[in-house]
Amino acid sequence: MKVLIVGNGAREHAIAEKLAQDCELSSVMSKKNPAIAQLSKDYWICDTEDAEAVGKAIAGREFDLGFASPDASLAAGVSDVLARSGMLVASPTKAAARIEWDKSFMRSLLERHKISGSPLHEVVNAAEDARRVIRDFGAVAVKPLGLTGGKGVKVSGDHFHEIDEKVAYAQSLIEKDGSVLIEEKLVGEEFTFQCFSDGSRIAVMPPVQDHKRAYEGDLGPNTGGMGSYSSGKRLPFMEEADREEAQKILQSVVHAMKKDGNPFRGVLYGQFIITANGVKIIEFNARFGDPEAMNVISLLQDSLTDVFLSIAEGQLSRPAFSDDCTVVKYMVPEGYPGKPLKDAAVSIDAAGVEGSGAKVYYASVYEQGGKILTTGSRAFGVLGRAASLDAAERIAEKGCSFIKGPVWHRSDIGTSALIGKKLERMHSIRG
Ligand code: AMP
Ligand code: GLY
Repeated sequence: MKVLIVGNGAREHAIAEKLAQDCELSSVMSKKNPAIAQLSKDYWICDTEDAEAVGKAIAGREFDLGFASPDASLAAGVSDVLARSGMLVASPTKAAARIEWDKSFMRSLLERHKISGSPLHEVVNAAEDARRVIRDFGAVAVKPLGLTGGKGVKVSGDHFHEIDEKVAYAQSLIEKDGSVLIEEKLVGEEFTFQCFSDGSRIAVMPPVQDHKRAYEGDLGPNTGGMGSYSSGKRLPFMEEADREEAQKILQSVVHAMKKDGNPFRGVLYGQFIITANGVKIIEFNARFGDPEAMNVISLLQDSLTDVFLSIAEGQLSRPAFSDDCTVVKYMVPEGYPGKPLKDAAVSIDAAGVEGSGAKVYYASVYEQGGKILTTGSRAFGVLGRAASLDAAERIAEKGCSFIKGPVWHRSDIGTSALIGKKLERMHSIRG
């Protein structure tokens, strides 16, 4: 089978590696990811956020199945262009991906279909309305409606304290985008729950916890995600009822979209939070999480090519996942996220990594003159997998030690010290 993947990050490296086990893979990338290029029979470099450019790049070539991976490609309609060129497609249309690229659409979908899990929220387009809502809600999250790579949300207590600061941020978003989403601040532990969907049914993957904050102890600015861990069917702080509630919400969303004549085929990602009042939904993504894809794909025991085919054909197969634990740590350039070092050379001791049992996924790096250079975004995802979280964490740490250059990572992700704190916090929130 000839399969085409669009995207070039560490997430796509993990997807590509799994697909390439049993298909003939080709890829379209915005920058040459050396690892994906090596896994591909053919590859093309073009702007993957420009659907027509992707269409042109592959013109005259035939594929059986396509998968557009990054959020910006989905929002640009790359899946639609792939479908028009005659292949089956396992990623959502632009219309279905709206659940990610338009947060106001997402909240109103839940409202119209009476799906539980939304906090108090309001979309406003004037500063005085923003002030009124912020005053009414108290602690808030102020959110752009569109895509921001996980970096656009600001939350009371974390990023601002005074009402004037919140209004000023809301106003700046109104000036830029015309409107802004203000939500009641939710307090609890977050988790990522992803599923495959064929437009009607879902097959869930192991839940994962990402770490959005740049610095150890979950401090500092938000990032695209610094690392993540999974521990089988439930994360340490989750109860079975939390998992069931989240699964119910994912299934309800897929039903709702089908009912609206806008079926969701692809990977649906729910960012959930367990609060004192139960499981709430922070956002949906229309794709695998990054880094979460590295956690779950390493645990997938069946063929990803088959799963994608079953999605595209509307006959979802239910793949099996190992209950092993995984820890992913992202290595990022010095200065990330504020002033990241670009075009700096990094080196990987491949034999050392291999001996450690870790896996390294290439993210935002490029190759020039035989060297691997940073771009300013996250550089490498390092995965450890084992029967226990402690062992998986040690493997990931060891793997990181074989990457040399001006890069750093959060060494607390996946440690029992940090997870212990999350457990305690969840315990006190549940009361
Ligand atoms: P998003 O881009 O919607 O995933 O938001 C990024 C991060 O902002 C989330 O992972 C949360 O940590 C935080 N956040 C977003 N919405 C809320 C909310 N209503 N309450 C508390 N935190 C939030
Ligand atoms: N890990 C967060 C995301 O992929 O959006």
